Amino acid sequence: MTEKAISIVGTGYVGLCTAVGFASKGYKVVASTHDSEKAKLINEGTPPFFEPGLEELLRKVVKKGWLRCVLDREEAVTNSGLTIISVSTPSEPDGSINLRFIKRSAREIGEALHKKDAYHLVVVKSTVVPGTSENLVKPIVENSSGKRCGADFGLCMNPEFLREGAALYDTLHPDRIIIGEYDEKSGSTLEKLYRDFLVEDMPPTVRTSLSAAELIKYANNAFLATKISFINTIANICEKIPAADVGTVAKAIGLDERINPLFLNAGLGYGGSCLPKDVKALIAFCRGLDYVPILLKAAEDVNNTQPYRAIELAKEHIGGLKDKRVAVLGLAFKPNTDDMREAVSVKVINKLLEEGAKVVAYDPKAIVNARHIFGDKIEYANSSTECLKNAECCIVVTEWEEFKQLEPKDFVGQMKTPLVIDGRRIYDQREFSRKLNFAGIGLSAQGSYPSSI
Ligand code: UDX
Repeated sequence: MTEKAISIVGTGYVGLCTAVGFASKGYKVVASTHDSEKAKLINEGTPPFFEPGLEELLRKVVKKGWLRCVLDREEAVTNSGLTIISVSTPSEPDGSINLRFIKRSAREIGEALHKKDAYHLVVVKSTVVPGTSENLVKPIVENSSGKRCGADFGLCMNPEFLREGAALYDTLHPDRIIIGEYDEKSGSTLEKLYRDFLVEDMPPTVRTSLSAAELIKYANNAFLATKISFINTIANICEKIPAADVGTVAKAIGLDERINPLFLNAGLGYGGSCLPKDVKALIAFCRGLDYVPILLKAAEDVNNTQPYRAIELAKEHIGGLKDKRVAVLGLAFKPNTDDMREAVSVKVINKLLEEGAKVVAYDPKAIVNARHIFGDKIEYANSSTECLKNAECCIVVTEWEEFKQLEPKDFVGQMKTPLVIDGRRIYDQREFSRKLNFAGIGLSAQGSYPSSI
């Protein structure tokens, strides 16, 4: 075993991108999963999901022998000096997180450590509520290995902040490293690994306790979610007053350095595998603390209803949606991914179906996943042009670059009655309103005031 050998348990977005990231810098990485189909794909150089740039780099590192995927945790652990746990922590019906994969990984790592003599560092990267690393992972690893944390093995909690669609970039250029450490040796071992991995790209590093690191991840995503729900609230106000555009408001407040312009894009709300789940989990965690986090609940409430603004806007223009052919542009929870977990499109489409509309949808990457969710309840188009054909209303749900290129004539030329509901604010209201029926999130019906920002 070389010093540059690491193992990763779990091959989802985070696990696989982390594995490929380290392997691309010459580390010997052993990834492990219990899913033999996934392991086979990875060993052939094919990612089990779409992520820009991942396939190319995965093929390269597999070919060079820097990354391999195994089914056996023991093989992964014994062939490395450090194991990163990046398994999923799914939601329970009450919003709390399910830790069964964490427990199983900790037990299997412990069983492997039982057969190993050298010091080993266990790193929890999965998103887990405060106290999990110390009160769950540590005792399970200790019991199943017969070894002692701090003496025979180390323990860190190291949250990730990867954005889907930019996950590889974020792996190689993180804006910070958070290290929650059981003891000084554990933290220093992990910091050394990152310094060696990132060299001059090493960002500011925060070393803290295990539970603070666990909370930092939740606080981060809860803040982003709250920021989005805040601007969506302002958007909803803009729609009710004359000549106000939330884009201008967002740009103006974003100039305040204390606010900054990022994550102020109003729209149909946040989706994905993290923001909704993490806000729910933090609220559920607070229940155990006997504390009601009103602000987080409000952010969640705003997000739960925001997707339906698209339907309300459509109805304001064409009345009932029964038997109307509605084109939905965008299914993925955001552009550059095929991921539809907690995608806003699911809420929008289910509501359209409930209203009796005939839905036809198009997405550059997510059609396969959409078929699993909607089956034959909706039609699927192969292009935006095909999607718009004969439609009486179009709702833009995901801001893919190719949708941004569409012009009023593209809608007018294909649709039966051109009505566009811009759920992601990608079109110019003045230009579109002149040529077709147009409404969008955060735009007052009377039109926007020319902005000088
Ligand atoms: C998020 C966090 O950004 C990342 O740090 C963490 O590791 C995982 O969760 P991700 O889920 O990939 O990443 O997507 P993100 O770019 O944060 O977007 C989440 C959702 O918010 C998307 O549905 C997006 O459309 C929406 N969003 C984002 C807005 O509605 N407005 C914005 O201004 C930004």
